[in-house]
Amino acid sequence: MTNRSALKASGHKFREHRMSNRVKNMVVSPIKEMMLLASKIKEPFLLAQGIPAEDTPKHIKEAIIDAINGPVASKYSILSGMQESREAVATRYKRKYNVNYDPDLNIGITAGAMEACMISCLSIVDPGDEVILIAPCFSSHIEEVLACEGKPVFVNADEKEGWTLNIENVKKAITQKTKAIIITSPSNPSGAVYSEDQIKTLCELALEHDLFIIADETYDFLTYDQIPFFSFSQVPEIQKNLILIGSSSKEYSMTGYRIGWVICENDILNHLFKLHDATTVCACVASQFGFIAAINGPQDSVTKLVKSMQERRDLICERLDKVPHLFKYYSKPQGAYYIIPEIVFPHENSIQVALDIQEATNVVTVPGVAFSPVGEGHIRMSFGGGASRGPKGKDLINQAFDKLEEWGRKFL
Ligand SMILES: Cc1ncc(COP(=O)(O)O)c(C=O)c1O
Repeated sequence: MTNRSALKASGHKFREHRMSNRVKNMVVSPIKEMMLLASKIKEPFLLAQGIPAEDTPKHIKEAIIDAINGPVASKYSILSGMQESREAVATRYKRKYNVNYDPDLNIGITAGAMEACMISCLSIVDPGDEVILIAPCFSSHIEEVLACEGKPVFVNADEKEGWTLNIENVKKAITQKTKAIIITSPSNPSGAVYSEDQIKTLCELALEHDLFIIADETYDFLTYDQIPFFSFSQVPEIQKNLILIGSSSKEYSMTGYRIGWVICENDILNHLFKLHDATTVCACVASQFGFIAAINGPQDSVTKLVKSMQERRDLICERLDKVPHLFKYYSKPQGAYYIIPEIVFPHENSIQVALDIQEATNVVTVPGVAFSPVGEGHIRMSFGGGASRGPKGKDLINQAFDKLEEWGRKFL
């Protein structure tokens, strides 16, 4: 694969001698690399990592504080997560999709969706197995497959059609070695939302070829312009081959608390737990209390979050429209909070562009190549608006684009 490491490009060293092939083939996801490189910038404009601008709702924080002051938070929870956390996940799916999952048999609480994805891949991907990814795809999914010494097989989405999924191309990519399809809808980085028909056809394909589907539905609550979201949980037939992953990070502005979940048949889950135990033991218990409060408490914060995300999406598109000599996108993101426009000015590669922009403007973005080869020639920006430092929300987008506009005059 092409070089995807901004750390390498900026001179960081990686030992080769006696290191595993596994780690030698991987990179730190360039999203996190760019954040690492930005950590020394005094006044950054952070468009790199996907963090909501909104603070964690008060009742969630209070539940966490109460838990910390109580007797339980300092102890491990059981491996699968507290009973109430698993029940909260079941409640969420009943409320949202009217589907029933058994909290004792089908649900495990993880340290974020990231851990859920990693243990899912490790449980099903053997060295040499092929895993289909819809490209551009979430960079960490590539690293997860590589960590298992699997082979990522990229099926490019159609950029001009809003990065839509091309099922015919998925069919063509399936071989004897294909083990799984990892699918993220709404998509990070493209913002595409796959239709009910597409999801159902993917399920048919997976069943026909006995493939696993790992469905990362971290952004299932976040679509724009009333675009409907269709979840893999709504397809009864696929459940036996499905590993469904979700997260509290974005929906409840809890990225730092690290609570995600995995839903699958019990005989799969029992394997996942071996890896969960070997890596994490249990998700942070104080955070689990916050998660329980998030699901069982008022949901108005989510409605507000979606509304302000849509405003920020419109704002970033407006600002991109003003710099057609720098970037081009074909349609507004339909969900999640990322946009991956094409770089239209002369450039060497997307890593260099991201590094140059960061160096010249303090605006932190992610090189498109992070998200598969088709991402090369693009740059990803998050309009989540959240940042641990520097401006936030619309101010962040406006100030970052003021800088970009100034920097880009040379290309007029
Ligand atoms: C598609 C996708 N999956 C997973 C994650 C990570 O989620 P978590 O914070 O729950 O680990 C992200 C974060 O950006 C994401 O975009």
